[in-house]
Amino acid sequence: MQFDIRRFDIYRKVPKDLTQPTLTGACISVSSVLFILYLFLSELSLFLTHEVISELTVEDPVRHTEKIPVFINITLPQLKCEYVGIDIQDDMGRHEVGFQDDTQKIEVNEGKGCRMESHFVINKVPGNFHVSTHSSRTQPDNPDMTHLIHKVRFGMDLQEGKEVKGSFNPLEDVDRSAGQALATHDYIVKVVPSVYEDTSRNIIYPYQYTYSYR
Ligand SMILES: *[C@@H]1O[C@H](CO)[C@@H](O)[C@H](O)[C@H]1NC(C)=O
Repeated sequence: MQFDIRRFDIYRKVPKDLTQPTLTGACISVSSVLFILYLFLSELSLFLTHEVISELTVEDPVRHTEKIPVFINITLPQLKCEYVGIDIQDDMGRHEVGFQDDTQKIEVNEGKGCRMESHFVINKVPGNFHVSTHSSRTQPDNPDMTHLIHKVRFGMDLQEGKEVKGSFNPLEDVDRSAGQALATHDYIVKVVPSVYEDTSRNIIYPYQYTYSYR
């Protein structure tokens, strides 16, 4: 007898004129097609969503630099620009009063207030920087340090408007403009280096931080 591979066919064809559509069959077919479609679309959308993967390392990934660039953008609505300055102090003996390089002051609130944008670098040691009136030759009678923070950033900037989970700018929109006028405001900030790599393998080194206020 001649060998015929068709004998192994599990899905044997029934002649067309012997098949008959049924209502149950139609129900099963329609619901399985819908189910397949749902599975396909949900898996596809899961596949297409971006996911941020976090990894912790012990080593400092940003070893190539000993200093951390800082950017601060803050509005003091009740303090004139002539009084506003930045003081930087750290455990390595740095004490700079009224840091001025790379600082822009823009009058707001009809000249009664000031928005300050400043870039500076800090050492990787404990220290502090503060916005104060210390650098001004004449001191205002009642320095009003109420403020609104737009940005405090350490390290390289993530692109503006990028939605990345993490603590790259947690001080954004912190509003202390309704507080007591003569109060001082302290933020205790813990800064950790981060490596951020996007899907096109661009690597940048921002820092993340947390803060507490007192
Ligand atoms: C600082 O913040 C103000 C108010 O949000 C904004 O208009 C300005 O563009 C910011 N400056 C920089 C350099 O990001």
